[in-house]
Amino acid sequence: MRLVLVCVLALLAQPAAAGNLRGKLLFLRCASCHDISTTASAKIGPNLKGVVGRPSGSLAGYHYSPAMMQAHLVWNEPTLDRWLTQPNAVVPGTAMGFAGLPSAPDRAAIIAYLRNPAP
Ligand code: HEC
Repeated sequence: MRLVLVCVLALLAQPAAAGNLRGKLLFLRCASCHDISTTASAKIGPNLKGVVGRPSGSLAGYHYSPAMMQAHLVWNEPTLDRWLTQPNAVVPGTAMGFAGLPSAPDRAAIIAYLRNPAP
């Protein structure tokens, strides 16, 4: 058990590793609300497959908050970085109940994972 923990910590300490395992592990924090696989329908939050480059609030069939419908953003590296730092500061009144990720390397790893979720 302790060995497993040490391994996980060692992985988390690395910069975006080959295959971005760090991003994949960090995405577990999002996975309770978001799916990123092809087939999945929305969970509490919209499916995030292909979200990088997508206009905000644009996934057909997902019921976004009025705040998100009026945000008119495009999800690219800079907007995602700001969003993941503090969602409510970027889209005040958003329905995404997530406080934010204070660590810039963590955000970068998650954004890389959103761009390429392949294992
Ligand atoms: C507690 C549930 C929850 C968690 C945890 C969560 N989200 Fe969300 N997310 C949502 C909801 C709900 C929305 C829709 C927000 C709205 O309509 O205002 C959303 C919206 C988004 C959007 C905008 C998608 C679009 O189609 O415009 C992105 C990008 C996103 N989340 C990324 C993430 C990432 C990355 C994480 C993990 C770091 C995360 N979310 C964690 C619930 C969550």
